[in-house]
Amino acid sequence: MRIAIVSDIHAYELTDPRPPTAPSYLCVSDPADQPKRHPIAGLKQLITAESLRADLLVCPGDMTDKANTAALAYVWAELHNLKGLLGATKIIATAGNHDVDSRHKYNDFDAKGALQALTPLFPGLSDAECDRYWARNFVLLEEASWRLLLLNSSAYHGGGKDQSKEAEHGRVSQRTISAIEATLKGSSVRDINILVCHHHLYKDNAIYEKDYSEMEGADHLLRVLGSGDHGQWLVVHGHKHHPKLQYGSGNSSSPVIFGAGSLCASLYSELAARARNQFYLLDVDAEAAKIHNLDIAGRLTAWDWIPNAGFKPAGNGSGLPHNSGFGYRAGISSIASSIAAQFTPANPYLRWRELLGIFPQLHYLLPSDVGTVMKQLKAAHSILCTEDAQGVPLELAKS
Ligand SMILES: [Fe+2]
Repeated sequence: MRIAIVSDIHAYELTDPRPPTAPSYLCVSDPADQPKRHPIAGLKQLITAESLRADLLVCPGDMTDKANTAALAYVWAELHNLKGLLGATKIIATAGNHDVDSRHKYNDFDAKGALQALTPLFPGLSDAECDRYWARNFVLLEEASWRLLLLNSSAYHGGGKDQSKEAEHGRVSQRTISAIEATLKGSSVRDINILVCHHHLYKDNAIYEKDYSEMEGADHLLRVLGSGDHGQWLVVHGHKHHPKLQYGSGNSSSPVIFGAGSLCASLYSELAARARNQFYLLDVDAEAAKIHNLDIAGRLTAWDWIPNAGFKPAGNGSGLPHNSGFGYRAGISSIASSIAAQFTPANPYLRWRELLGIFPQLHYLLPSDVGTVMKQLKAAHSILCTEDAQGVPLELAKS
């Protein structure tokens, strides 16, 4: 199963006076014939040039910036164009905090009205499924080999006792979690189980000193998904524009959590020092999981949006590398020892590619775990590793 992920576009409309700082590289009135300057034109060029295909196109929210209705409609139409180019069967989107008019800038009372007025219907499902998404704050989509839980983590924006505070974070209510649990109990576990939502599930204080915008109630939702009762889960979210691939806390069944970076929002300086704008293809491979005795096995391919250069394979320091994986959760010392055992005095060099042939499960190591294995190889086995320009291990040498 292959999913294309386009997150946090933050498209805006040129206003008079012009905003002092553009929220994004996508202004809806910019000419769309310059792929190196226009992110959607650039993405179309990448998809065509590389013949990229996907089963689903997922947008985890913030299509527009500050609920601008013209930009919202523009992006929704362009996502359908991208779906066609990718040969995807569905677009699956969810509401970001910027997609709902929480602060009633355009509408006095109907925060979600512009999203509900989009055609085709938002979030890209059948009429009944869209109604269920809006009425219950979630909908479970089921196919033969996968199921996808689509959650509206912005469901309470624009309402509540304190409207402005509620808009500052995501939320999944206890009532919604109970309804999700009941729905999952009535559905059979699939090889691939995916949650898509907008807000992140944990505080992200790696960069943000004061980050309180995570989804309230997410810890309980993660406990349900990680209980082992409903299969192994992969979470895909947006919101913080900080690309991250990690495992949730808890036991060995905790979900894989992919925080997608933003396609083309302007990144402020602290974040720009650590990440770039990115587009992703996510492959979840149920066969590989069975072959390697893993609960889940997947690979992620990332491209960076570089203004005036277009989309390029992600580089070192982009947030997530061009190629990475997830699902292989063995102990780091044990992995390093297995790798070190391949080295002999007569054979002190090994290419990473050769190692992947010997231990194919290394394809499914988190990128951060690859780095930790390298540190362990150096510290415990005197094995040094070189990397290519994309930060992928190249060659290992034992001194
Ligand atoms: Fe965003």
